[in-house]
Amino acid sequence: MAENKRPENMKRITTPALAEAFIEEQIAALKAQIGNGKVLLALSGGVDSSVVAALLIKAIGKQLTCVHVNHGLLRKGEPEQVVEVFRHQMDANLIYVDAVDRFLDKLAGVSDPERKRKIIGKEFIDVFAEEAKKLNGIGFLAQGTIYPDILESGPVKSHHNVGGLPEDLHFELVEPVKFLYKDEVRVVGTALGLPSSMVNRQPFPGPGLGVRCVGAITRDRLEAVRESDAILREEFKNAGLEGKVWQYFTVVPDFKSTGITNGMRTYEWPVVIRAINTVDAVTAEAAELDFKLVQRIVARITGEVKGVNRVLWDVTPKPSATIEWE
Ligand code: XMP
Repeated sequence: MAENKRPENMKRITTPALAEAFIEEQIAALKAQIGNGKVLLALSGGVDSSVVAALLIKAIGKQLTCVHVNHGLLRKGEPEQVVEVFRHQMDANLIYVDAVDRFLDKLAGVSDPERKRKIIGKEFIDVFAEEAKKLNGIGFLAQGTIYPDILESGPVKSHHNVGGLPEDLHFELVEPVKFLYKDEVRVVGTALGLPSSMVNRQPFPGPGLGVRCVGAITRDRLEAVRESDAILREEFKNAGLEGKVWQYFTVVPDFKSTGITNGMRTYEWPVVIRAINTVDAVTAEAAELDFKLVQRIVARITGEVKGVNRVLWDVTPKPSATIEWE
């Protein structure tokens, strides 16, 4: 489709000045498209939806309503950051939906990875549609579609976007970054004043920590994933590795092993660490890291994360392993 092809003369956005020009152009285009209309946006806090939100706030302010669904599978501090940045700093209309119990109840006892993904995707659409129906006069749905999503139209992004809304919800799409590559979205996000921790975020799967709490999700094991992930990210940041290692995260499998703490035998979960480098996520290599850093992370995770007595480092390339564990 012609309207889904990046214009041939469009310059690659690599500098703040080019980002500013893009922002001005988009603000005018958004105003022209939307007029006095009202726009709805599912704001996950990921780079793409955050940049779309910031652009729309500049263009149409309170005509935009953002919905942030906290499904309980986000990283530590993320829902709070969305509220702080968009409600408090940018003064946006933001509906924060605490759907944690709802998601975790639906997922209880479900161990099949594909079923877990389906439940998360469907529940997300249901929650979002319920919020949309409570609002009056919404004519537009904004989405953080980016150019690789159009080129690949692959399975990955379908988890992020609000496809499959019920038939009684008809909206015109607003997709201001649909011709941008990821690196360009980041340059634009920085120019829009979004925090670096939001703009330069590593990739995060749509089903979130749900695919890293292997097997049937339990609240205590999910907390072990979230806490160990926060420690890993903090240590990578302190070591200057943020933005240098492509993706790093922790996984907690659903088995236990014996350990010893303060002379007492324990029977607890291991935390698996995965830190990889890749160009396109099709193949990947384990990142080579300083062993002192590895030891520090192991000590912190076993010392600070409840229910964990062991750490395993997954150095398997892709293939044979995938990047995620589920
Ligand atoms: P795999 O595990 O297939 O992951 O080697 C490749 C990249 O895709 C991310 N990923 C996902 N992203 N929804 C997403 O939006 C998903 O269901 C999903 N599964 C994997 C993964 O984090 C890695 O960057």
